[in-house]
Amino acid sequence: MSDDPDVDLEARLEETAAFQPPEQFVEQANVSDPDIYEEFEANWPACWEGAADLLDWDEPYDQVLDDSNPPFFEWFTGGQLNASYNALDRHLDERGDEAAIEWIGEPTDEANRTYTYAELHREVNEFAAGLRDLGVEADDVVTLYMPMVPELPIAMLACARIGAPHSVVFAGFSADALATRMNAADSEYLITCDGYYRRGDALEHKAKADDGLAGVEHDVETVVVDRLGDAYDHPTGEHDHAYADLVAANEGTTVEPVSRDAEDMLFLMYTSGTTGEPKGVKHTTGGYLSWVTWTSQAVLDIEPEDTYWCSADIGWITGHSYIVYGPLSLGTTSVMYEGTPDFPEKDRLWEIVDAYDCTQLYTAPTAIRAFMKWGSEYPAAHDLSSLRLLGTVGEPINPRAWKWYYKHIGDEDCPVVDTWWQTETGGMMVTTLPGVGEMKPGSAGPPLPGLDVRIVDVNGDPVEEGRAGYLTVNRPWPGMLRTLYDNDERFVSEYWSEYSDTDSDDPDDWVYFPEDGAKIDEDGYITVLGRVDDVLNVSGHRLGTMEIESAIVGVPGVAEAAVVGGHHDVKGEAVYAYVITEDGYDPDEPLRENIIDTVEDAIGPIARPEAVVFTPELPKTRSGKIMRRLLEDIANGEALGDTSTLRNPDIVDDIAASVGDD
Ligand code: WT7
Repeated sequence: MSDDPDVDLEARLEETAAFQPPEQFVEQANVSDPDIYEEFEANWPACWEGAADLLDWDEPYDQVLDDSNPPFFEWFTGGQLNASYNALDRHLDERGDEAAIEWIGEPTDEANRTYTYAELHREVNEFAAGLRDLGVEADDVVTLYMPMVPELPIAMLACARIGAPHSVVFAGFSADALATRMNAADSEYLITCDGYYRRGDALEHKAKADDGLAGVEHDVETVVVDRLGDAYDHPTGEHDHAYADLVAANEGTTVEPVSRDAEDMLFLMYTSGTTGEPKGVKHTTGGYLSWVTWTSQAVLDIEPEDTYWCSADIGWITGHSYIVYGPLSLGTTSVMYEGTPDFPEKDRLWEIVDAYDCTQLYTAPTAIRAFMKWGSEYPAAHDLSSLRLLGTVGEPINPRAWKWYYKHIGDEDCPVVDTWWQTETGGMMVTTLPGVGEMKPGSAGPPLPGLDVRIVDVNGDPVEEGRAGYLTVNRPWPGMLRTLYDNDERFVSEYWSEYSDTDSDDPDDWVYFPEDGAKIDEDGYITVLGRVDDVLNVSGHRLGTMEIESAIVGVPGVAEAAVVGGHHDVKGEAVYAYVITEDGYDPDEPLRENIIDTVEDAIGPIARPEAVVFTPELPKTRSGKIMRRLLEDIANGEALGDTSTLRNPDIVDDIAASVGDD
């Protein structure tokens, strides 16, 4: 025993492998009955009626699941509803004056903005009318290229109101990425922003949008939100429209929410895959909205009275599902913060939790690892006792980071939910139910009730407990993607070919493969190990190695490139680029800088290589395949195993030596 109680506590936490849900949490939890797993199992797929019942339907559905054409599963068929009605209108009578969105800008001297449900409803209606003035009709894909400003969720809900699917492109993505996505979706409308604040600087964004538009093959009507005011002069092109003008021209107008079929597309979200071409993941109105609303209630334990905060960016699926659609459908207050956690000081998040009395915090392991590094004095300086639940998402969380979060943010009083899911799954899939399950740091937990998740070997047979295998989902679920935009074939080949009998009409023969490795323990708890395809997870963001490689080989002087992920203490993974130069090109500093800049320009700052390693050759198998695993080991400084099957075994030591030089 030491004299310092903190040291004892650390030691005790260190040794603890499992934690029980706090009693005071269980007493009030939305779900606290462990029988839910058996009940859902006994009652599948009708168990999902409860999720659909959380919504208001214009037309009731006829069938919970239509599995007649696998893997094109359909949910709540025949039903009709509108997502913006469910997120807004239905709360007006009871909660019209309550905050729907608490928006906090990055500059601390700027007033925050509160949107009550009535105010949000009003502006969504006015902007929906503005979109119609521009010519937007049901089923037109509207691209949103916006930072964390309130007009982003407003625009999403305005699109949903008139039945126009939105396609949000993360504001940190490059102009090229915007153009690729707009071309792929044939999107003729863009909503963007003049700029935004980042660590005290006003960043220009419209110029980047314009660069992107230069690469779009058709005319685009563009709406520009004024975020920076005088900090930016607003040139207007022929097809530019000021957001404020569109809204002002429709002051007080209401737009009838368009009844959508349950299976109508609510939105598209492009995500990285193994090939260079991003995948347009299609989500629907009925199934997706039911899924995110139910999981928000069951896993995040959201109640209307809560002030719930998910610190993700709405440009990713996490923000779509768990800042906008799930929380607002439940009528709660959703917090939205524009800036970074370390501006102006490293306690910005804790200051916000304290000031707004946040009841839940949902964030990413990469952020938690950064908080750990900065030190516990930052959260300790604030009153975080309003917190009732903590969540993480995006990548595996190491037990140390989990325990730090549990102790220093949750004061050992809040359950921590480690939620595994993907853009494609729409919402959470594997996690403990916070009022039911014991928590094991580092392991996400069991699959949610009603899901059939198995960890299998290459043949599709279940692996032994504790052994690494592949994660598979053996039954459809309402929040699942329906297809890849305009590409049913790729949908089947990407997700349903590995473990399915693709000739079969029997839905039981179809298995969804998310391309993650995992293991399972004796209690059925799943530990997700990471991607098994050529996709990196940098700070919880998915990046395709192929996308980065194709940017690099476009740099004059580069002959060949291989990109792999190396371990990074905060980001989880970092981008390592191995580059062979063309004959006559010196692998010098300017070339290195050019490569780094080119990757940033092509994809965005998140893809910035941690290291560019010049090498005369890449390790290849005799059949000519680049040995990525070996390059990863080199990046991680790990001992290299047997290299005798390589065509060029000697090269490995040379590369390892040049990484060491960096
Ligand atoms: C990939 C999906 C889920 C929304 C944000 C990312 C990894 C996600 C976890 C977790 C371990 C996780 C997986 C997955 N991942 N959550 N709790 N534990 N890994 O969505 O960009 O579609 O990425 O993120 O590898 O496949 P995404």
